[in-house]
Amino acid sequence: MPRIAVIPGDGIGVDVTREAVKVMAAIRDSGVPLEWDEFDYGADKYLETGITLPDEEIANFRDNYNAIYVGAVGDPRVPDMTHARDILLGMRFKLDLYINYRPCHLLDESLCPLKNKTPADVSFTVFRENTEGLYSGTGGILKKGTPDEVAVQTSINTRKGVERIIRHAFEYAKTNSLKSVTMSDKSNAMRFEGDLWQRTFFEVAEEYPDIEAGHWYIDALLMQMVKRPEQFDVIVSCNMFGDIITDMGAQLCGGMGLAASGNIHPSRTSLFEPVHGSAPKYAGQNIANPLAAILTVGIMLETLGLPEWTPRLENIVRDMIHNGSVPRDMGGPLGTAEVGDCVVKALK
Ligand code: NAI
Ligand code: MG
Repeated sequence: MPRIAVIPGDGIGVDVTREAVKVMAAIRDSGVPLEWDEFDYGADKYLETGITLPDEEIANFRDNYNAIYVGAVGDPRVPDMTHARDILLGMRFKLDLYINYRPCHLLDESLCPLKNKTPADVSFTVFRENTEGLYSGTGGILKKGTPDEVAVQTSINTRKGVERIIRHAFEYAKTNSLKSVTMSDKSNAMRFEGDLWQRTFFEVAEEYPDIEAGHWYIDALLMQMVKRPEQFDVIVSCNMFGDIITDMGAQLCGGMGLAASGNIHPSRTSLFEPVHGSAPKYAGQNIANPLAAILTVGIMLETLGLPEWTPRLENIVRDMIHNGSVPRDMGGPLGTAEVGDCVVKALK
């Protein structure tokens, strides 16, 4: 039976996770074996005890759970973000969750900020490398606070790291009968990492002759996403560019309230979270949009071998959009809990 470690976290993370858990309970009640335990890591715990997320707990998740579900972490009382970094980046790096999986499927035309684009036009999946690049924390500051200060932030790109994310993108395209995989980098200006990404991408692409291998520089890619999003099926990129691409992708599909994600190492304990943060100003007021958190449950179940739940939940959300049963940020009348109730009702 799949076991899930649930960390609601901070701010609206708590509000939206409550609804995601309601949905998990409804899915369990429909006959899918699932169980979960909640953990209270977050700003309150850190401020009371100094504990962020101990290594032993990460080992417990790795050894005794099949998935980790996180609402969001981040709190204005912890301006240096110590606990959020330890919790999220800690798990991403220590569990080697090298795939950041962010599907971008427009569920309804009305949600797209682009003119005349339909759900068929805006439907692609982004794979962001999640353990290397500029976010690996390599670097330092010399002579801090003096006029001679120097800051160095190094981009780490290993053959192994680049190859495994690219390979995963092609495997995903193959499994889902998708036409193309597009890689994005800045190899014209950043020659060394660009060389590694380019060579690896086109070498791996040769193993998938039925899938078209495309490339855009990152600046051009963002223009293309706005101009002709219909050309993309799968996009693969490094950690930082992937971060930027997925925020843009989320907006093309209706914003942060709907964007779901997985941080995955296939066949190991992986982490699932809505893309948005803890939006502290909305916390505890029953106004946060829980749909991203609920769609994240679908991605989690999909990764646990139950692929039918992503389309099933997407269909429910699509119907809710058609009926206007959506929360405030999407122009509707519903509170956080009412949105969760609506999804649960549709599941029954
Ligand atoms: P944020 O995503 O929390 O909020 C940005 C704005 O987006 C909000 O002010 C709100 O207008 C809107 N928004 C986001 N999610 C929403 C939802 N579910 N329903 C309705 N509106 C929503 O990003 P921000 O303000 O940059 O960060 C706030 C805190 O969250 C910070 O501490 C930050 O570090 C943390 N954060 C945590 C993340 C995570 O846990 N993965 C990701 C991003 C930020
Ligand atoms: Mg981001």
